[in-house]
Amino acid sequence: MADFLSAYSIQNWLESCPQAYLEGTEYGHLPGEKEPEDLIANPVLREDAIRSTVQLVVGEKCALAASSGLINAAPDEASKCFLATQTLDEARHIEVFTQRLLDLGVPKRDLDETIRTYANPNLVKFAEVLLEKVDRKDFVAGVVGQNIVLEGLAFSVFEMLKAVSDEMNPKFAHTLSGTIADERRHVGFGENRIGSLIKQHPERKSEIERMQKEMSYYMLATFADAFRNNPARQQIEHVKAGMRDSGVRADYHGANLAELSPEQMESVLADTVLKEFKIRLGRIGIEYQTPAHP
Ligand SMILES: [Fe+2]
Ligand SMILES: [Fe+2]
Repeated sequence: MADFLSAYSIQNWLESCPQAYLEGTEYGHLPGEKEPEDLIANPVLREDAIRSTVQLVVGEKCALAASSGLINAAPDEASKCFLATQTLDEARHIEVFTQRLLDLGVPKRDLDETIRTYANPNLVKFAEVLLEKVDRKDFVAGVVGQNIVLEGLAFSVFEMLKAVSDEMNPKFAHTLSGTIADERRHVGFGENRIGSLIKQHPERKSEIERMQKEMSYYMLATFADAFRNNPARQQIEHVKAGMRDSGVRADYHGANLAELSPEQMESVLADTVLKEFKIRLGRIGIEYQTPAHP
């Protein structure tokens, strides 16, 4: 427990996050960095960037509601303190991704409307499954749904976006690298804290397994919309062709994303996230349930 206390303490959070990788940043990136001009100038790609950033905002709003809601459900002080740090991380994530919407040219007065318009209905359902557990103050299911399922998803999506952005959009890649470091800490907490609670409450397992299966289904349906049914598909393929021509790589789990079709990218992402779920759930004694294929 001593290690657990120091690893997830506020002191550790201060030293490893605000006083370390976020030091000197502005909305998560280096001061003065901007979105690339050719992205801003291309209406189809700009709309695609707005649409995908809205999904990040929607996911982070769910994470903020879940992490703050779970504070009062947590059975011990160390978990409450950790969740308080996570609450600030998630609020920051909302802020940096909302700032990106403004940087992409969304007028401030249109923010809410833009988020409503582009929010993927499957992602909204994904969030509702989790927030229903949080509303019932169900700490065990809430932590599994948030710190393993939601954050496992966020982590892998951010890594994929970062791989594509490293060369093409350093500003966005820098914003993502800070959020990835945060999500890594959140996922670690979920695994470390919840394993012992599951052991104490084996009767909760089947309900949690059902939740994971349901959330995973909505996640896969969101991926299908983002890759297979993306209205900007042609323009994105054009960008990838440009990357290949100029030798720009986007390495992600052994693949060069610039060389993959949207369907192949979707399956690499889905396989990566589901494999992670299986490993992490296995470690806490939950049996991974294969979701239906959307
Ligand atoms: Fe987050
Ligand atoms: Fe998180």
